[in-house]
Amino acid sequence: MSRAEEHPLERADKAYVWHPFTQMAEWLAERPLIIERGEGATLTDIHGNTYLDGVSSLWVTVHGHRHPEIDQAIRDQLDKVAHSTLLGLGNVPAVEFAEALVSVAPPGLTKVFYSDDGSTAVEAALKMAYRYWQNREPGSRRTRFVSFRGAYHGDTLGGVSVGGIDLFHAAFRPLLFPTEQVPGPYCYRCELELVYPECELACAEALGPVLERLEGEVAAVIVEPLVQGAAGMVTAPPGHLRRVRELCDAHGTLLICDEVATGFGRTGTIFACEQEGVSPDILCLAKGITGGYMPLAATLVTEEIYEAFLGPYEAQKAFFHGHSYTGNPLGCAAGLASLRILQRPSTQAHLKALVERLSAGLERIRTLAHVGEVRQRGLMVGIELVRDKESREPYPWEERIGIKTIEEARLRGVILRPLGHVIVLMPPVGMTLEQCDTLLEVTEASIRAATGGGEAA
Ligand SMILES: Cc1ncc(COP(=O)(O)O)c(C=O)c1O
Repeated sequence: MSRAEEHPLERADKAYVWHPFTQMAEWLAERPLIIERGEGATLTDIHGNTYLDGVSSLWVTVHGHRHPEIDQAIRDQLDKVAHSTLLGLGNVPAVEFAEALVSVAPPGLTKVFYSDDGSTAVEAALKMAYRYWQNREPGSRRTRFVSFRGAYHGDTLGGVSVGGIDLFHAAFRPLLFPTEQVPGPYCYRCELELVYPECELACAEALGPVLERLEGEVAAVIVEPLVQGAAGMVTAPPGHLRRVRELCDAHGTLLICDEVATGFGRTGTIFACEQEGVSPDILCLAKGITGGYMPLAATLVTEEIYEAFLGPYEAQKAFFHGHSYTGNPLGCAAGLASLRILQRPSTQAHLKALVERLSAGLERIRTLAHVGEVRQRGLMVGIELVRDKESREPYPWEERIGIKTIEEARLRGVILRPLGHVIVLMPPVGMTLEQCDTLLEVTEASIRAATGGGEAA
């Protein structure tokens, strides 16, 4: 990678931009990588260096960058109108996209409430769940939420309240509403010290006693179906989601599925819920919803929830919530085009082939001395690095093993982003099989270089 001279934009980035989830003191000490363009599964920086986008630009890109059909859909919409509000008006792509989303969503979800990103999709879901019970029965005691340890539902205060990652969430606790948490489905480091399948899904079962203790008080349970993304691509054991649904039904509480990360093909099917035949009461979508082009999100609900907000004007049952860019026409046009491509049989066949290629390639990585576990669900992969494979001893935080690994990958032309000591791979659906091979080869070489370890003895 050549980056001989410091570019004025590198200086300006350091002077003016505050990057999210970034220790800026470190950033300022390094040369920033500034992207100028993209094509398919690659990104090119301002110096002309091209990199493979191994994490779909933080889990959003679906078909690749500059996909001609999505580009065209946005250009066509731009010739009509870039934005018009959904407060008191409709717009053509927002109507068409809502219909398309309902047609692919798990059965029973019939209404689409738009917002702008994953956090706002979750925020809307939490407020809807709360108001649903209040609208049905003013003063309802169903005001509480139950979530899973390791959960990540975004950075707004509602999302953080139901979050379960201390590193991100603990510092904000004084600002949050209290929630109940149950064990996450993290089999590799099971907090119940059990082993699947003998555990008989004890982590999901732990929800039962909590719902019993809080009988009649829980507005909703919120879960990331199949994969807890930010926890380190923690893949739930089969049946986990189904059991959570059953327990919610048994206790008459709502289930919110947050498919912000897992939606739109990422787990191998359009939605993760499909794989366990589960329909949530509320579904949160964002990230891949526009193919990774525009900030757009949607919260889908059942007819029953929607109807609880109907009533005479003076009853004030309307959902008093919304954002300036809700239902943005450019985003909805991109979403329509992206969904059309995703549903195409040729895309589905490629997705299946890509998942298989990824699985096969991960076998080698699994054997490395410092790879504790490789987790995969579709195109979502977490490679957990450990100091000691036998004892599962983690690397100390200060060792920055995840950062070191992705720095090695960058030298080899691949962009990755770790979650602590977990290396995340999330190729876009549109990545070619050859590019997938490169991604795997570079990941292996980078782990070897960062950990100084070859195969396990
Ligand atoms: C499951 C889940 N929910 C919500 C969010 C928040 O989405 P956003 O970053 O678009 O606000 C994320 C982001 O990673 C996520 O993984």
